[in-house]
Amino acid sequence: MTSPELTHDLLGPELLASPQRLYHAIVTTTPVHFAPQTHGFVVAKWTDNMALLKDPGLSPALMTAALDMRAPEEAEQLAWIRKTVRMWMGHTVPEDHTRIRRLLHRYFTPSTVRGLEPTATAIADELLDAAEERGRFDLISEFAYPLPARVIAHMLGVPTERHEDIQRWSEGIVKVFTNRDMPGLLDAQASMREMVDYMKTIVDEHRASPREDIISVFVEAEKEEQISAEEILANCVLLLFAGHETTANLIANGTVALFDHPEQLERLRAEPELTANAVEEMLRWEGPAGSTMRMNGAAPRTVAGVEIPPHSLIVAGLGCANMDPDEFEDPLRFDVGRAKPKTLTFGMGAMFCLGAALARMEGRVAFERMLGRFPKLAPAEPPQWRLTSPLNRHCDRYELSVR
Ligand code: HEM
Repeated sequence: MTSPELTHDLLGPELLASPQRLYHAIVTTTPVHFAPQTHGFVVAKWTDNMALLKDPGLSPALMTAALDMRAPEEAEQLAWIRKTVRMWMGHTVPEDHTRIRRLLHRYFTPSTVRGLEPTATAIADELLDAAEERGRFDLISEFAYPLPARVIAHMLGVPTERHEDIQRWSEGIVKVFTNRDMPGLLDAQASMREMVDYMKTIVDEHRASPREDIISVFVEAEKEEQISAEEILANCVLLLFAGHETTANLIANGTVALFDHPEQLERLRAEPELTANAVEEMLRWEGPAGSTMRMNGAAPRTVAGVEIPPHSLIVAGLGCANMDPDEFEDPLRFDVGRAKPKTLTFGMGAMFCLGAALARMEGRVAFERMLGRFPKLAPAEPPQWRLTSPLNRHCDRYELSVR
Protein backbone atom coordinates (compact mmCIF):
# COMPACT_ATOMS: atom_id res chain seq x y z
CA MET A 1 0.00 0.00 0.00
CA THR A 2 1.31 3.48 -0.76
CA SER A 3 1.40 6.09 1.95
CA PRO A 4 -1.96 7.77 2.60
CA GLU A 5 -2.47 11.46 1.95
CA LEU A 6 -1.48 13.78 4.73
CA THR A 7 -4.53 15.73 5.86
CA HIS A 8 -3.11 17.53 8.88
CA ASP A 9 -0.81 20.49 9.30
CA LEU A 10 1.78 19.25 11.81
CA LEU A 11 3.09 22.72 12.53
CA GLY A 12 0.07 25.00 12.46
CA PRO A 13 -2.90 26.33 14.42
CA GLU A 14 -4.26 22.85 15.19
CA LEU A 15 -1.04 21.97 17.02
CA LEU A 16 -0.98 25.31 18.79
CA ALA A 17 -4.59 25.02 19.97
CA SER A 18 -4.54 21.39 21.12
CA PRO A 19 -1.72 18.93 20.42
CA GLN A 20 -3.85 16.19 21.99
CA ARG A 21 -6.63 16.62 19.41
CA LEU A 22 -4.12 16.72 16.57
CA TYR A 23 -2.29 13.62 17.83
CA HIS A 24 -5.61 11.84 18.33
CA ALA A 25 -6.85 12.78 14.86
CA ILE A 26 -3.62 11.47 13.30
CA VAL A 27 -3.55 8.18 15.20
CA THR A 28 -7.19 7.46 14.41
CA THR A 29 -7.12 8.45 10.72
CA THR A 30 -3.61 8.06 9.29
CA PRO A 31 -1.55 5.78 11.55
CA VAL A 32 1.36 5.83 9.05
CA HIS A 33 1.82 8.57 6.49
CA PHE A 34 4.50 10.49 4.65
CA ALA A 35 4.56 14.03 6.02
CA PRO A 36 6.54 16.47 3.84
CA GLN A 37 6.87 18.83 6.83
CA THR A 38 9.00 16.21 8.57
CA HIS A 39 10.71 14.86 5.42
CA GLY A 40 9.74 11.45 6.76
CA PHE A 41 7.08 8.89 7.59
CA VAL A 42 5.12 9.62 10.74
CA VAL A 43 4.21 6.46 12.67
CA ALA A 44 1.39 7.13 15.11
CA LYS A 45 0.12 3.94 16.77
CA TRP A 46 1.42 2.85 20.17
CA THR A 47 2.19 -0.73 19.17
CA ASP A 48 3.95 0.30 15.93
CA ASN A 49 6.08 2.85 17.81
CA MET A 50 6.94 0.31 20.47
CA ALA A 51 8.16 -2.12 17.78
CA LEU A 52 10.14 0.59 15.95
CA LEU A 53 11.88 1.91 19.04
CA LYS A 54 12.89 -1.60 20.08
CA ASP A 55 14.19 -2.50 16.61
CA PRO A 56 18.02 -2.61 16.59
CA GLY A 57 17.93 -2.46 12.78
CA LEU A 58 16.95 1.21 12.87
CA SER A 59 19.56 3.84 13.56
CA PRO A 60 18.90 7.06 15.48
CA ALA A 61 18.58 10.19 13.40
CA LEU A 62 17.80 12.52 16.19
CA MET A 63 19.93 15.58 15.72
CA THR A 64 22.11 14.73 12.80
CA ALA A 65 19.04 14.41 10.55
CA ALA A 66 18.74 18.19 10.20
CA LEU A 67 22.48 18.46 9.58
CA ASP A 68 22.64 15.61 7.09
CA MET A 69 20.07 17.30 4.87
CA ARG A 70 22.20 20.39 4.17
CA ALA A 71 23.91 21.12 0.87
CA PRO A 72 27.66 20.21 0.87
CA GLU A 73 28.98 23.77 1.48
CA GLU A 74 26.51 24.27 4.34
CA ALA A 75 27.35 20.85 5.75
CA GLU A 76 30.99 21.94 5.81
CA GLN A 77 30.11 25.02 7.89
CA LEU A 78 28.30 22.72 10.32
CA ALA A 79 31.04 20.08 10.48
CA TRP A 80 32.00 20.92 14.07
CA ILE A 81 28.54 20.45 15.57
CA ARG A 82 27.99 17.29 13.54
CA LYS A 83 31.21 15.78 14.85
CA THR A 84 30.32 16.72 18.44
CA VAL A 85 26.77 15.35 18.23
CA ARG A 86 28.14 12.14 16.72
CA MET A 87 29.97 11.57 20.03
CA TRP A 88 26.77 11.74 22.07
CA MET A 89 25.71 8.41 23.42
CA GLY A 90 22.88 7.21 21.23
CA HIS A 91 24.35 8.93 18.20
CA THR A 92 27.37 6.70 18.11
CA VAL A 93 27.76 3.12 16.95
CA PRO A 94 26.12 0.64 19.37
CA GLU A 95 29.43 -0.41 21.01
CA ASP A 96 30.30 3.20 21.90
CA HIS A 97 26.75 3.80 23.06
CA THR A 98 26.94 0.88 25.49
CA ARG A 99 30.42 1.91 26.67
CA ILE A 100 29.35 5.47 27.57
CA ARG A 101 25.91 4.57 28.90
CA ARG A 102 27.45 1.95 31.21
CA LEU A 103 29.73 4.59 32.76
CA LEU A 104 26.75 6.76 33.63
CA HIS A 105 24.18 4.18 34.57
CA ARG A 106 24.75 4.19 38.33
CA TYR A 107 24.13 7.94 38.51
CA PHE A 108 20.62 7.57 37.15
CA THR A 109 19.24 4.52 38.96
CA PRO A 110 16.05 4.99 41.02
CA SER A 111 18.04 4.63 44.25
CA THR A 112 20.62 7.31 43.29
CA VAL A 113 17.76 9.52 42.22
CA ARG A 114 16.05 9.02 45.61
CA GLY A 115 19.24 10.31 47.21
CA LEU A 116 18.95 13.49 45.14
CA GLU A 117 15.44 14.28 46.29
CA PRO A 118 16.51 16.49 49.25
CA THR A 119 18.68 18.55 46.86
CA ALA A 120 15.82 18.96 44.39
CA THR A 121 13.43 19.87 47.23
CA ALA A 122 15.81 22.49 48.63
CA ILE A 123 16.25 24.05 45.17
CA ALA A 124 12.48 24.05 44.56
CA ASP A 125 11.85 25.72 47.92
CA GLU A 126 14.49 28.37 47.29
CA LEU A 127 12.92 29.23 43.93
CA LEU A 128 9.43 29.29 45.42
CA ASP A 129 10.61 31.57 48.28
CA ALA A 130 11.56 34.14 45.67
CA ALA A 131 8.20 33.70 43.90
CA GLU A 132 6.31 34.14 47.16
CA GLU A 133 8.11 37.36 47.96
CA ARG A 134 7.09 38.89 44.65
CA GLY A 135 3.55 37.51 44.67
CA ARG A 136 3.79 36.36 41.06
CA PHE A 137 6.38 34.67 38.89
CA ASP A 138 7.08 33.37 35.42
CA LEU A 139 6.75 29.61 35.84
CA ILE A 140 9.06 28.89 32.91
CA SER A 141 12.14 31.03 33.57
CA GLU A 142 11.84 31.21 37.35
CA PHE A 143 10.93 27.65 38.28
CA ALA A 144 10.51 25.07 35.49
CA TYR A 145 13.99 25.69 33.97
CA PRO A 146 16.17 26.52 36.95
CA LEU A 147 15.00 23.55 39.07
CA PRO A 148 16.17 20.71 36.77
CA ALA A 149 19.10 22.80 35.48
CA ARG A 150 20.51 23.17 38.98
CA VAL A 151 19.95 19.50 39.80
CA ILE A 152 21.82 18.25 36.73
CA ALA A 153 24.59 20.83 37.27
CA HIS A 154 24.94 19.49 40.84
CA MET A 155 25.11 15.88 39.54
CA LEU A 156 27.77 16.74 37.00
CA GLY A 157 29.76 18.95 39.33
CA VAL A 158 29.23 22.18 37.41
CA PRO A 159 29.02 25.33 39.57
CA THR A 160 25.63 27.03 39.48
CA GLU A 161 26.93 30.61 39.00
CA ARG A 162 26.72 30.29 35.23
CA HIS A 163 23.22 28.78 35.15
CA GLU A 164 21.87 31.66 33.09
CA ASP A 165 24.54 31.07 30.44
CA ILE A 166 23.83 27.33 30.55
CA GLN A 167 20.14 28.05 29.96
CA ARG A 168 20.94 30.44 27.09
CA TRP A 169 23.31 27.93 25.46
CA SER A 170 20.72 25.17 25.85
CA GLU A 171 18.10 27.33 24.15
CA GLY A 172 20.56 27.69 21.25
CA ILE A 173 21.42 23.98 21.13
CA VAL A 174 17.75 22.95 21.04
CA LYS A 175 17.52 24.59 17.61
CA VAL A 176 19.15 21.52 16.09
CA PHE A 177 15.95 19.68 17.00
CA THR A 178 13.60 22.45 16.05
CA ASN A 179 15.11 24.66 13.32
CA ARG A 180 15.81 23.14 10.02
CA ASP A 181 17.16 26.46 8.69
CA MET A 182 20.79 27.48 8.43
CA PRO A 183 20.69 30.47 10.86
CA GLY A 184 19.16 28.24 13.56
CA LEU A 185 21.73 25.49 12.99
CA LEU A 186 24.61 27.98 13.07
CA ASP A 187 23.23 29.43 16.27
CA ALA A 188 23.05 25.91 17.74
CA GLN A 189 26.69 25.35 16.73
CA ALA A 190 27.83 28.64 18.29
CA SER A 191 25.96 27.88 21.53
CA MET A 192 27.42 24.39 21.69
CA ARG A 193 30.95 25.72 21.15
CA GLU A 194 30.51 28.18 24.00
CA MET A 195 29.24 25.43 26.27
CA VAL A 196 32.10 23.12 25.32
CA ASP A 197 34.67 25.90 25.95
CA TYR A 198 33.16 26.51 29.37
CA MET A 199 33.11 22.79 30.16
CA LYS A 200 36.82 22.41 29.23
CA THR A 201 37.82 24.48 32.27
CA ILE A 202 35.44 22.59 34.57
CA VAL A 203 36.67 19.20 33.34
CA ASP A 204 40.30 20.30 33.82
CA GLU A 205 39.49 21.28 37.40
CA HIS A 206 38.06 17.81 37.97
CA ARG A 207 41.19 16.21 36.49
CA ALA A 208 43.26 18.14 39.03
CA SER A 209 40.96 17.32 41.96
CA PRO A 210 38.32 14.62 41.45
CA ARG A 211 35.11 14.69 43.53
CA GLU A 212 31.91 12.68 43.89
CA ASP A 213 30.18 13.61 40.66
CA ILE A 214 29.63 12.59 37.04
CA ILE A 215 32.54 14.56 35.60
CA SER A 216 34.85 12.83 38.08
CA VAL A 217 33.53 9.46 36.87
CA PHE A 218 34.33 10.55 33.32
CA VAL A 219 37.88 11.70 34.11
CA GLU A 220 38.54 8.49 36.03
CA ALA A 221 37.33 6.48 33.02
CA GLU A 222 39.51 8.62 30.76
CA LYS A 223 42.63 7.43 32.65
CA GLU A 224 41.62 3.87 31.79
CA GLU A 225 40.99 4.86 28.18
CA GLN A 226 37.28 4.09 28.42
CA ILE A 227 36.35 7.54 27.16
CA SER A 228 38.25 10.27 25.27
CA ALA A 229 38.58 13.92 26.27
CA GLU A 230 36.39 14.97 23.34
CA GLU A 231 33.71 12.43 24.24
CA ILE A 232 33.66 13.74 27.81
CA LEU A 233 32.95 17.26 26.62
CA ALA A 234 30.33 16.19 24.09
CA ASN A 235 28.46 14.06 26.64
CA CYS A 236 28.65 16.72 29.37
CA VAL A 237 26.89 19.04 26.92
CA LEU A 238 24.30 16.34 26.21
CA LEU A 239 23.61 15.78 29.91
CA LEU A 240 23.46 19.47 30.81
CA PHE A 241 21.13 20.21 27.97
CA ALA A 242 18.98 17.03 27.98
CA GLY A 243 18.92 17.14 31.77
CA HIS A 244 16.85 20.25 32.01
CA GLU A 245 15.26 21.26 28.71
CA THR A 246 12.80 18.35 28.69
CA THR A 247 11.96 18.32 32.40
CA ALA A 248 11.28 22.07 32.24
CA ASN A 249 8.67 21.31 29.58
CA LEU A 250 7.13 18.59 31.74
CA ILE A 251 6.64 21.10 34.58
CA ALA A 252 5.35 23.78 32.19
CA ASN A 253 2.96 21.56 30.19
CA GLY A 254 1.78 19.78 33.32
CA THR A 255 0.89 23.08 35.02
CA VAL A 256 -1.03 24.23 31.94
CA ALA A 257 -2.92 20.90 31.90
CA LEU A 258 -3.90 21.32 35.56
CA PHE A 259 -5.22 24.85 35.06
CA ASP A 260 -7.06 23.74 31.91
CA HIS A 261 -8.77 21.03 34.01
CA PRO A 262 -9.70 22.69 37.31
CA GLU A 263 -11.50 19.61 38.63
CA GLN A 264 -8.27 17.61 38.21
CA LEU A 265 -6.30 20.32 39.99
CA GLU A 266 -8.82 20.22 42.81
CA ARG A 267 -8.51 16.44 43.04
CA LEU A 268 -4.73 16.61 43.16
CA ARG A 269 -4.87 19.26 45.87
CA ALA A 270 -7.21 17.05 47.88
CA GLU A 271 -5.15 13.89 47.25
CA PRO A 272 -1.48 14.95 47.01
CA GLU A 273 -0.45 11.28 47.24
CA LEU A 274 -1.59 11.10 43.61
CA THR A 275 1.23 13.41 42.47
CA ALA A 276 3.50 10.70 41.05
CA ASN A 277 0.56 9.30 39.11
CA ALA A 278 -0.46 12.78 37.98
CA VAL A 279 3.07 13.29 36.60
CA GLU A 280 2.66 10.07 34.54
CA GLU A 281 -0.59 11.45 33.13
CA MET A 282 1.10 14.79 32.37
CA LEU A 283 3.82 12.89 30.50
CA ARG A 284 1.13 11.15 28.48
CA TRP A 285 -1.03 14.25 27.97
CA GLU A 286 1.67 16.48 26.55
CA GLY A 287 5.13 15.04 26.86
CA PRO A 288 8.12 17.28 26.24
CA ALA A 289 9.08 15.32 23.11
CA GLY A 290 6.17 14.86 20.70
CA SER A 291 8.39 12.74 18.47
CA THR A 292 11.81 11.22 17.98
CA MET A 293 13.44 9.97 14.80
CA ARG A 294 15.00 6.90 13.28
CA MET A 295 16.50 6.09 9.90
CA ASN A 296 15.25 3.05 8.06
CA GLY A 297 17.91 0.52 7.10
CA ALA A 298 18.85 -0.72 3.62
CA ALA A 299 15.65 -2.75 3.19
CA PRO A 300 12.09 -1.45 2.80
CA ARG A 301 9.83 -2.11 5.77
CA THR A 302 6.09 -2.32 6.07
CA VAL A 303 4.41 -0.65 9.03
CA ALA A 304 0.63 -0.98 9.40
CA GLY A 305 0.42 -1.97 5.74
CA VAL A 306 2.39 1.05 4.47
CA GLU A 307 5.74 0.46 2.78
CA ILE A 308 8.54 2.68 4.04
CA PRO A 309 11.40 2.82 1.50
CA PRO A 310 15.04 2.08 2.43
CA HIS A 311 17.00 4.88 4.14
CA SER A 312 13.89 6.94 4.81
CA LEU A 313 13.44 9.07 7.87
CA ILE A 314 10.91 7.61 10.31
CA VAL A 315 9.25 9.96 12.78
CA ALA A 316 8.17 8.03 15.88
CA GLY A 317 5.06 9.96 16.92
CA LEU A 318 5.36 9.57 20.69
CA GLY A 319 2.62 12.14 21.32
CA CYS A 320 0.28 10.40 18.84
CA ALA A 321 0.98 7.02 20.47
CA ASN A 322 0.02 8.51 23.84
CA MET A 323 -3.40 9.38 22.38
CA ASP A 324 -4.01 5.94 20.86
CA PRO A 325 -7.53 4.77 21.84
CA ASP A 326 -6.42 1.14 21.43
CA GLU A 327 -4.00 1.67 24.30
CA PHE A 328 -5.66 4.33 26.49
CA GLU A 329 -9.32 4.43 27.41
CA ASP A 330 -10.86 7.78 26.49
CA PRO A 331 -7.44 9.24 25.63
CA LEU A 332 -8.70 12.81 25.30
CA ARG A 333 -9.60 12.85 28.99
CA PHE A 334 -6.89 14.30 31.27
CA ASP A 335 -7.16 12.25 34.44
CA VAL A 336 -4.63 12.52 37.28
CA GLY A 337 -5.99 9.25 38.66
CA ARG A 338 -5.61 7.28 35.42
CA ALA A 339 -4.28 3.83 36.29
CA LYS A 340 -0.60 3.59 35.33
CA PRO A 341 -0.56 5.22 31.90
CA LYS A 342 2.12 3.34 29.91
CA THR A 343 3.43 6.31 27.99
CA LEU A 344 6.06 6.23 25.29
CA THR A 345 7.23 9.68 26.35
CA PHE A 346 10.68 8.47 27.44
CA GLY A 347 11.12 6.34 24.34
CA MET A 348 11.72 2.58 24.55
CA GLY A 349 14.46 0.05 23.90
CA ALA A 350 18.22 0.62 23.90
CA MET A 351 17.90 4.41 23.90
CA PHE A 352 15.24 4.58 26.63
CA CYS A 353 15.74 7.89 28.41
CA LEU A 354 18.65 7.67 30.83
CA GLY A 355 17.11 10.44 32.94
CA ALA A 356 13.56 9.05 33.23
CA ALA A 357 13.72 8.35 36.99
CA LEU A 358 15.33 11.73 37.57
CA ALA A 359 12.72 13.59 35.52
CA ARG A 360 9.88 11.77 37.30
CA MET A 361 11.32 12.67 40.71
CA GLU A 362 11.87 16.31 39.71
CA GLY A 363 8.34 16.55 38.30
CA ARG A 364 6.82 15.10 41.46
CA VAL A 365 8.86 17.39 43.74
CA ALA A 366 7.99 20.42 41.60
CA PHE A 367 4.23 19.80 41.85
CA GLU A 368 4.27 18.70 45.49
CA ARG A 369 6.14 21.81 46.57
CA MET A 370 4.40 24.30 44.29
CA LEU A 371 0.83 23.16 44.98
CA GLY A 372 1.51 22.40 48.64
CA ARG A 373 2.87 25.83 49.20
CA PHE A 374 0.49 28.00 47.18
CA PRO A 375 -3.18 27.09 47.75
CA LYS A 376 -4.24 30.12 45.68
CA LEU A 377 -1.87 29.56 42.75
CA ALA A 378 -3.58 30.79 39.56
CA PRO A 379 -2.63 31.96 36.07
CA ALA A 380 -2.01 35.72 35.94
CA GLU A 381 -1.68 35.67 32.12
CA PRO A 382 -2.46 32.99 29.54
CA PRO A 383 0.49 30.72 28.64
CA GLN A 384 2.53 31.85 25.64
CA TRP A 385 3.14 29.04 23.19
CA ARG A 386 5.49 28.80 20.25
CA LEU A 387 5.53 26.19 17.50
CA THR A 388 8.98 24.65 17.40
CA SER A 389 8.96 21.66 15.05
CA PRO A 390 6.35 19.35 13.51
CA LEU A 391 4.29 17.79 16.34
CA ASN A 392 5.92 19.98 19.03
CA ARG A 393 4.90 23.21 20.72
CA HIS A 394 6.79 24.95 23.51
CA CYS A 395 5.57 27.12 26.37
CA ASP A 396 7.81 30.18 26.57
CA ARG A 397 6.13 32.13 29.34
CA TYR A 398 3.43 31.50 31.92
CA GLU A 399 2.87 34.17 34.56
CA LEU A 400 1.33 32.76 37.73
CA SER A 401 0.04 34.58 40.77
CA VAL A 402 0.50 33.05 44.22
CA ARG A 403 -2.04 35.14 46.18
C1 HEM B 1 10.39 14.66 31.13
C2 HEM B 1 11.66 14.68 30.83
C3 HEM B 1 12.31 13.90 29.74
C4 HEM B 1 11.78 13.37 28.60
C5 HEM B 1 10.35 13.43 28.12
C6 HEM B 1 12.87 12.71 27.90
C7 HEM B 1 12.71 12.03 26.70
C8 HEM B 1 13.68 11.25 26.12
C9 HEM B 1 13.48 10.39 24.98
C10 HEM B 1 12.18 10.25 24.22
C11 HEM B 1 14.65 9.77 24.73
C12 HEM B 1 14.91 8.72 23.65
C13 HEM B 1 15.20 9.33 22.34
C14 HEM B 1 15.20 8.30 21.24
O1 HEM B 1 14.93 7.10 21.46
O2 HEM B 1 15.45 8.71 20.12
C15 HEM B 1 15.61 10.25 25.70
C16 HEM B 1 16.92 9.87 25.74
C17 HEM B 1 17.83 10.40 26.62
N1 HEM B 1 17.56 11.23 27.71
FE1 HEM B 1 15.77 11.95 28.22
N2 HEM B 1 14.01 12.86 28.62
C18 HEM B 1 13.72 13.56 29.76
C19 HEM B 1 14.58 13.90 30.77
C20 HEM B 1 15.91 13.60 30.78
C21 HEM B 1 16.81 13.93 31.87
C22 HEM B 1 16.43 14.62 33.17
C23 HEM B 1 18.03 13.49 31.50
C24 HEM B 1 19.24 13.61 32.36
C25 HEM B 1 20.40 13.67 32.09
C26 HEM B 1 17.90 12.87 30.19
C27 HEM B 1 18.92 12.31 29.45
C28 HEM B 1 18.74 11.53 28.34
C29 HEM B 1 19.84 10.86 27.66
C30 HEM B 1 21.30 10.92 28.03
C31 HEM B 1 19.26 10.16 26.58
C32 HEM B 1 19.99 9.29 25.56
C33 HEM B 1 19.97 7.87 26.06
C34 HEM B 1 20.68 6.92 25.16
O3 HEM B 1 20.92 7.24 24.00
O4 HEM B 1 21.02 5.83 25.63
N3 HEM B 1 16.60 12.95 29.79
N4 HEM B 1 14.99 11.13 26.56
